[in-house]
Amino acid sequence: MPLSTSSSSLAPIKVSARVRGFTYAIRNIVAEARKVEAAGKKVRYLNIGDPIPFGFHTPPHLIAAVEKAMRDGHNGYTASVGVAPAREAVAREFTSRGMPVTADRCIITSGTSEGIELTLGAIADAGDEVLVPTPTYPLYTAVLAKLGARAVFYRTDPSNNWQPDLDDVKRLISPATRALVVIDPNNPTGAVYPSATRKALIDLADRANIVLMADEVYGDLAFDGPAPLYGSLNPDAPIISYSSLSKAYLAPGWRGGWLACGRTERLDDVLAAIKKLADGRLCSPGPMQFAVEAALTGDRSHQATFIRELKMRADLTVSRLSASPDLRCVAPRAAFYVMPQVLLPPGKTDEDFVLGLLRETGILCVYGSGFGMPADQGFFRIVYLASPDELSAIYDDLVAYARHFRAQ
Ligand SMILES: Cc1ncc(COP(=O)(O)O)c(C=O)c1O
Repeated sequence: MPLSTSSSSLAPIKVSARVRGFTYAIRNIVAEARKVEAAGKKVRYLNIGDPIPFGFHTPPHLIAAVEKAMRDGHNGYTASVGVAPAREAVAREFTSRGMPVTADRCIITSGTSEGIELTLGAIADAGDEVLVPTPTYPLYTAVLAKLGARAVFYRTDPSNNWQPDLDDVKRLISPATRALVVIDPNNPTGAVYPSATRKALIDLADRANIVLMADEVYGDLAFDGPAPLYGSLNPDAPIISYSSLSKAYLAPGWRGGWLACGRTERLDDVLAAIKKLADGRLCSPGPMQFAVEAALTGDRSHQATFIRELKMRADLTVSRLSASPDLRCVAPRAAFYVMPQVLLPPGKTDEDFVLGLLRETGILCVYGSGFGMPADQGFFRIVYLASPDELSAIYDDLVAYARHFRAQ
């Protein structure tokens, strides 16, 4: 019997059925962009919310903290919940912002992403439901697909500045619901919710006794000042908050993040389950954990500069896109995303528009259906981190292509 067999005579090795439901349009669409590049066209990447390639810099005191940690020998595994100075800094930060929490309820994670994944893993069995906004950040649906749990979509309304439809949330809560996901400030829409809406969402989760997963990764990038922590609005509600160094501290590649679990005893079992799962992945990147304390206790003046730059780009985006008769655009109030709508000709989808735009102009956006929007509504997401001059040139081409597309 020969030890090796010709590989061509064997069937492909089977992958799990769960992976079929795991889609992540923001990165999946890059395969299309590579083809366009291979054909000799320059691609302008507006698909990923990463400020670094657009010339924004990680604050030097964070780099110094990581370098020092490495030189001081912090290169081994850490405790799976993270190093004490980082956890204590998160606890102090949350407590000082009105969500009283002790360090043992804070966990250092590999970005916001891992906090979300650990939590969903800790609370959702196959068949359980989690309420997720539409449009949504696609990590939620991808992780739920992997778990065999079900994303149940509640509406956020473009005709009402992308605010959540509270009646829809209320209607969709069922005995199978395990959590309500709130992304505020929001990706992909750039919406920031008013205080009454935040309180109503918390109240709905509190009464239903489900976890409110507060994705607050853009909380410090709201144009009108930092958003209050959800946990500060009702410290006894079952709220878990997530954030990271990625956006407001300009270090997305470091994979440094944290979660803070509200003080209510109702969350004790969930917290224990999250810690159990965290043990299995050993720890988040060690040296980067030392930047968390530096970030939360050090100079944050870079945020004011960053927000000024973002606001300038948001204004440019809205004025250029709103001037087109073929596009509609709700003004973002935070972060670096906008979700315009192209008025589609009959029979066309958002993906047709986005792929056509890419092939014709090299501009890479992400179609709204990648965020859970109906494909026939024509929504797409732009990341507006490029320089104003670059954006201006991009919008010339985008507006012209939208005109051409509609006239087809
Ligand atoms: C709403 C939202 N949540 C979570 C994440 C993941 O961020 P992190 O880099 O902290 O994992 C992102 C990244 O774009 C995001 O937009």
